[in-house]
Amino acid sequence: MGYIGKEQALPLLIEGLRRHSYRGYDSSGVAVFDGNQVSLVRATGKLEQLEQMLVRHPLPGSVGLGHTRWATHGGINETNAHPHADCKQNIFVIHNGIFENYQILKEKLQAQGHVFASETDTEVLSHLIEHFFKGNLENAVRQALVLMKGAYGVVVFAKQDPDKIIAARLSAPLVVCMSDAGGFVASDPAGILSHSNKMVFLDDGEVAVITKDSFTVTDLKNNPKEKTVTEIDWTLQEAQKGGYAHFMLKEIMEQPESLTNALRGRLMIGEGMAKLGGLEELKKQLKDVNRIQIIACGGASYAGKFGEYIIEELAGIPVHADIGSEFRYRNPVFDKHTLSIFISQSGETADTLAALHEAKERGGLTIGIVNVVGSTLAREVGFGVYNHSGPEVAVASTKAFTSQLAVLVLIGLFLGRQRQLSIASGQQIARELNAIPGLVKRILEKCSEIEILAKKYKDVNDFWCIGRKYNYPIAWEGALKLKEICYINANGIAAGELKHGPIALINEQFPTIAICPSDSVYDKMISNIAQIKARNGKVIAIATEGNEDIKRIADDVIYIPKTLEMLTPILSTVPLQLLAYYISVQRGHDVDKPRNLAKSVTVE
Ligand code: M6R
Repeated sequence: MGYIGKEQALPLLIEGLRRHSYRGYDSSGVAVFDGNQVSLVRATGKLEQLEQMLVRHPLPGSVGLGHTRWATHGGINETNAHPHADCKQNIFVIHNGIFENYQILKEKLQAQGHVFASETDTEVLSHLIEHFFKGNLENAVRQALVLMKGAYGVVVFAKQDPDKIIAARLSAPLVVCMSDAGGFVASDPAGILSHSNKMVFLDDGEVAVITKDSFTVTDLKNNPKEKTVTEIDWTLQEAQKGGYAHFMLKEIMEQPESLTNALRGRLMIGEGMAKLGGLEELKKQLKDVNRIQIIACGGASYAGKFGEYIIEELAGIPVHADIGSEFRYRNPVFDKHTLSIFISQSGETADTLAALHEAKERGGLTIGIVNVVGSTLAREVGFGVYNHSGPEVAVASTKAFTSQLAVLVLIGLFLGRQRQLSIASGQQIARELNAIPGLVKRILEKCSEIEILAKKYKDVNDFWCIGRKYNYPIAWEGALKLKEICYINANGIAAGELKHGPIALINEQFPTIAICPSDSVYDKMISNIAQIKARNGKVIAIATEGNEDIKRIADDVIYIPKTLEMLTPILSTVPLQLLAYYISVQRGHDVDKPRNLAKSVTVE
C-alpha cells in the first residue's frame, strides 16, 4: 500500500494494511517521509505489534509505504520485513511476488560495493534502483525492472525525488485510485476502497507515477498507456475476498496463478528437467535413493498418494504413501537410502510433524513440500520445495492441493531424469505441465455449468467418487471436499473395488462421480459406470473434451481439457472443488469455516 497526499500517511497506511490482512502475513512495516527524512518501523507478527511500536515512534508525514509480508525468501524477522532501502537510505521499496534472479543480481551489486541488510529477494531492487538513480525515480525504476525476472507488484519512494511514488506490476496485482486526500496504490481494492470506488487496475509491464493530484501510466519503455477507470460496487467485506462470496471460491479461482507460481522458474523444457533450488544441495544423495515414503494428513495425504503413482512411474523407485497419524505407530523400515517426503500446506500439522521427528530419529533423507514459509515443518525438515500458493484462508484446501500435485510432478521429473526417464519424455512432461495453468483457467471459465449441476444434486445425502490409477487419489479428494463443506456422506473409492462390496449400496438416490478422462484405464472405468447404471445409480462423469460417447451412459458430464494422462488429476480436481463449493452454498453452509474443523490441525 502506498500513499502520497495532503493528510497524515500513517493512519491511512495502517487502515489499508488492516484491510489487506485477510490475505495472511507474518510481519509488517511502514516507511513515512516527513519532508526531511524517511522513518522506518517494522515488526514481526500481527499488525497490533507494529501499531504498538508506532505508539512509541509516531511517524509524521504525508507520503508513505506500508506492507504486510508473507515470507518467501529469508526468515520471519524485522530485518526481512518490508520496506527495504538502498545503501544511502534514499530509496524505499515494498514488493509482493518473487524475483527469481535476485541471487545473481545481488552478487553483482555486492561486487560493486552495495551492502545488503536482509536475506530477501526484494532488497535487490532497492539497490538496483540506487544503481540507476540519477535524480528521476521513474526512470531508475524502469531500468531496474527490465533486469528483474519473476513476479512483482512494487511500490517505490525516493527521498531525493519526493513528489511521487512509483508503482509497477508483473503477475502480482496493483490498483491505483485518487481522492481529495491524494493518490493511493494497493495490492487489493480492499485496501483503498474507503477512499474512492473509482479504480485503475495496472496490467503486466505497466508503471504508474502517482503524485498527490494525479497519476500517469506507461510501459517499461516509457510509452504512455491509456487506462480505463473501473467503478467498484463491492462492499468492503466483499472486496477482501476479491469480490467473491467466499475465500474458497476466490482460492479456487486463483489456481491458474498459484499453479504458475508453483512452476515458475522450475521447468527446464529444453532439458526435460525440473530445477528445484531447495533440493540442489541434495542432488548427489537423491541419486542414491532406493525407497521413498510420502507422509501427510487429510487432503495433503491424497496428494501424497498421487505422488506414489507419479514418482514410481517416472523414476522407477518404490514409493509408499502414508498418513501422519499412522506412520509413527507402525514400524517403518528405513535405511540411509530412504527418502521421506512430508507434505503440508500449513507446515504446522501435529501428526505430520510427529512423523517427521520419527523419520529424523531413524535416519535417511527428509524433504518437505510446504506452502507456509517459515512454518515449523519448513524449518525442521531442512530441504524441500515451497508451493508458493500464497495464503490459503478457507478451511477446505484447494489451490494448495493442486500445487502439491504440480510439485510432486516436478519432483518425479527431477528424480526420473536422474535415472531412467529419457530427455524426450522429460521434455514432453515439462511442456504439458507448463500448459496446465491455462487449462485450469478454461475449466474455471465454465463454472456456471457446474453451479447448475450442483442445484440438481444439492439434496443428495450420499455420494461416491470413483477413479482409477492417477485419479484414484482424486476420488478421495473429491469426496473429502463434499464431506468437509457439504456435510455429505461421500466416499472416494478405487473404481475396481466397487464389486468387492460397496456396490451393495447403490440405488437411484445414490449418485456417483466417475473421474474418467480418456486414458489407459478409460475402458475399465466405463465398465464400472455400466455396473452402477445397471443398478439404477446416477453417474456424473468427469471426461475429456471431445468424448461425446460418454453422454450415452452418464447422466451428466463435466468436461476437462486434454492433457497427459499423468497430469489429468490437476484438472479433474477443479470441477470437484467447484461442485462441492456450489452444493455447500446452496445448502446454506458456512463454506469457509465448516463446523468442527480447523485450518491447521495442531493437535494429535
Ligand atoms: O496444513 P496441512 O496440509 O498439513 O493440513 C492437512 C489436512 O488437515 C488438510 O489437508 C485438511 O484435510 C483440509 N481441510 C483438506 O481440505
